[in-house]
Amino acid sequence: MKVNGTHYRSLWWDDVKGALQIIDQRWLPHDFRVQSVETLEDYAAAIVEMRVRGAPLIGATAAYGMALAVADDPTDANMDRTWEYLHATRPTAINLRWALDRCRAALAPLAEADRAGAALRLAHEIADEDVEINRMIGVHGLSLIQEIAAKKPAGEPVRLLTHCNAGWIATVDWGTATSPMYQAHNKGIPLHVWVDETRPRNQGALTSWELGSHGIPHTYITDNAGGHLMQHGQVDLVITGTDRTTRRGDVCNKIGTYLKALAAQDNGVPFYVALPSPTIDWTVSDGVAEIPIEERDAQEVTHIQGRNDGEIGVVQVTPDGTPGGNPAFDVTPNHLVTGLITERGICDASEAGLAAMFPEMAQAAE
Ligand code: MRU
Repeated sequence: MKVNGTHYRSLWWDDVKGALQIIDQRWLPHDFRVQSVETLEDYAAAIVEMRVRGAPLIGATAAYGMALAVADDPTDANMDRTWEYLHATRPTAINLRWALDRCRAALAPLAEADRAGAALRLAHEIADEDVEINRMIGVHGLSLIQEIAAKKPAGEPVRLLTHCNAGWIATVDWGTATSPMYQAHNKGIPLHVWVDETRPRNQGALTSWELGSHGIPHTYITDNAGGHLMQHGQVDLVITGTDRTTRRGDVCNKIGTYLKALAAQDNGVPFYVALPSPTIDWTVSDGVAEIPIEERDAQEVTHIQGRNDGEIGVVQVTPDGTPGGNPAFDVTPNHLVTGLITERGICDASEAGLAAMFPEMAQAAE
């Protein structure tokens, strides 16, 4: 997507530097900084510190990290060490494990001398595939927006609500939840997006930055406002992203997603989740019981980052000594999810729905 008129992906390979370039998201939306990732420690720090974030982007970054490690030492032992090291960076988004597994499985049968080149080609392939998957999620999700628009008086916007940032910077491009919005906007369908702030890290500000750069009307709201807006008929459709979706369609996403789904159900508002297939964890079924939830630093809750007089800084919001709790994700059970928007089409959030959409993956996991 475009930043000040220039098209960017959220990561890209620089042949001259021989290194991955990322947008350091810690400074957005206030400052656009590009960083070169040059050591394996840099890769791990980039994921842990959320310079790169969002399930698909974490996966693509890890694939480049594996490529760097293999270029340095192509042995099986080093691939295993790298798998463990990068896998330990963040526990919830399954794309991390998916990408590391895919790299190791593709490289292991090759001669050591061939691995470095193949690993970099595979990382590029994973990044390119992510772009296409997300574009197709937009193509399929567009139909939901078109249906709603068709029932409205001409010119009246379709009002969406989204949580966190499942936008282009959380993926390689397009985003997942935002992809249908871009597709609809590009087709001239009037939209208005309610953007949840998404405390504690306020990823909603990233979504606002993205939508604003693309000219999509939106309003940044507190996390607690969604239920009220739904009660008053101000939301036609909710679309969120996901960090891990189980084979029966339970959706793990940024903390607070579950409460939005409850409010949506109580108010008859359709609640859809944009789901790229690498985000399905076919090995788990009950999301609440089986998905590890990342507990992040309490300081993300007790303090907040923002811009003051042009300077980016952090302020404390709690009294000295108040303990903060910071579970970063929650699970929305499948019965609260109206449907899953995948790159192959829209399906029920159920074992049968996912298996019918991705039969070869469901079978491989048996
Ligand atoms: O902690 P984050 O910012 O990495 O969490 C991101 C989310 O929860 C997104 O909704 C999810 O990864 C989907 S991104 C397309």
